[in-house]
Amino acid sequence: MRLSWIASALVASTAVMAAPAVDEVQIAARATSGVNDYNCKPQAGKDPVIFLHGLGAPSGVNWFTKAPIVAANGYCVFTPQYGSVNQIWFGFASMRSSSKEVAGIVQKVLAATGAKKVNIVGHSMGTTVGSYYIKFDGGKDVVNHFVGFGANYKGSTLYGVNALVRTIPGVTPALRAVCASCDEFLPPSQFLTDLQAGGVSVPGVDYTTIVSNLDQIVIPYTSGLLREEPAVTNIVIQEQCGLIPDIAGHLAQAVDPNVTAWILWALGGKQGKIPGCIPNLIPFKRDDEFILDA
Ligand SMILES: *[C@@H]1O[C@H](CO)[C@@H](O)[C@H](O)[C@H]1NC(C)=O
Repeated sequence: MRLSWIASALVASTAVMAAPAVDEVQIAARATSGVNDYNCKPQAGKDPVIFLHGLGAPSGVNWFTKAPIVAANGYCVFTPQYGSVNQIWFGFASMRSSSKEVAGIVQKVLAATGAKKVNIVGHSMGTTVGSYYIKFDGGKDVVNHFVGFGANYKGSTLYGVNALVRTIPGVTPALRAVCASCDEFLPPSQFLTDLQAGGVSVPGVDYTTIVSNLDQIVIPYTSGLLREEPAVTNIVIQEQCGLIPDIAGHLAQAVDPNVTAWILWALGGKQGKIPGCIPNLIPFKRDDEFILDA
């Protein structure tokens, strides 16, 4: 009783943290037209882009800004919902099964578009699922560029929640029963151990990982850095942006134009210098302001 309450509270808090504001849902319905078009034919040198959303996020909301911008830059863009359990879109399925689901989605996109490779852009859970798919479920042969932001290859200790869950008897299985991916995110977990063993990245795929040192969900934020792996470009948002800091935390990276510019740079094969940050004219919302809106 009590244990399942702890598990549900944990799941609920994760979902609330990722809950979108209502106006964003409405924007999402409009802005993603032209995306998810299986008749789209890729331009030369522009492999289709598959966006993988975060835990608790409806895909249309997660990608309402970036998907149309990347599509407007000439890419065929797809924003699948994945990891649902009983048709509920929170993304509570095990990330191992989500990885297999992504493998199916990639095959469908390749078949429809005639492309030989795809690019993957992931936010949060999309970084762990995407990189797991590349390493274990066939992605290494068909993924060209992989870009992840709000990345968390080493999971998140979530203010010590991991220690609680692992210490109190019965909590780990209770959490796993409600939300397998939540359990996998809390170190130590076999999923994270497998993902990290011998390095997250695999040769032949171009990786970019983007993190914010203001991330409130990925703790520590360095969980998403792979500095010791040569195939990976590591970007800490605030180190890249100068005097006027970028205040995006975990959620706001989904709408941060600075992050979008680096995604386009990576998808384009990293030509020239990495783009500088784009100064804001309108004050930007911090993550806690997004949450208050919801
Ligand atoms: C992007 O970086 C610039 C320069 O540091 C900054 O002015 C702007 O606010 C940043 N964007 C966001 C969303 O924080």
